[in-house]
Amino acid sequence: MKFFVDTADVAAIAELNDLGMVDGVTTNPSLIMKSGRDITEVTKEIAAMIDGPVSAEVVALDLGRDGRRGPQAGADRAQHRHQGAAHRDGLKACRQLSSEGYMVNVTLCFSANQALLAAKAGASFISPFIGRLDDINLDGMQVIADIRQIYDNYDFDTEILAASIRSVNHASEAARIGADIMTAPPDVIRKMAEHPLTDRGLETFLKDWEKTGQKIL
Ligand code: E4P
Repeated sequence: MKFFVDTADVAAIAELNDLGMVDGVTTNPSLIMKSGRDITEVTKEIAAMIDGPVSAEVVALDLGRDGRRGPQAGADRAQHRHQGAAHRDGLKACRQLSSEGYMVNVTLCFSANQALLAAKAGASFISPFIGRLDDINLDGMQVIADIRQIYDNYDFDTEILAASIRSVNHASEAARIGADIMTAPPDVIRKMAEHPLTDRGLETFLKDWEKTGQKIL
């Protein structure tokens, strides 16, 4: 499973990249706002730091001037762009940009049918938003499972990018179901390494080692 980090916080990306846990980065207007950074500057900085795709959300509702600006934001890296799957113009833009060789991440996906349309439109990635479905008492994980089955039935190449991951359980469940990628906030990825029994065991080992009085030369 590939790990994308869902943030525009450059320091957090650098920290996880050093651990070898960053296969890509996703941003969106809310994350850019939170970072307080300029979108072009921060996207370029991230793209220069990591070896993988960086998503910058398209902020136009059609393929006009603003809608075509996204790819330039990330210089010459393999950048891709976000669209809203529920939006018919978004699918049109996806088809057009994919045919021009851009990687397109169809985002704000909330149903298997939207994912089916995105795959037919040539999307490189489909981003079902698990947490936002759970927020309204729907089953985000079931949507991922349905998309997995549909894509496998027809051998679609579009990768399933589990998004809106809010917890370590979301992460392991998305991996179990077979999402190709997950994008998670830095904190969720950090927490995946934690277990109280690991901490307790380490403490005991260190104490017992000290009691032996031995030294490794
Ligand atoms: C993914 O591309 C989105 O940035 C993200 O996963 C949204 O997550 P949220 O629903 O927690 O805001």
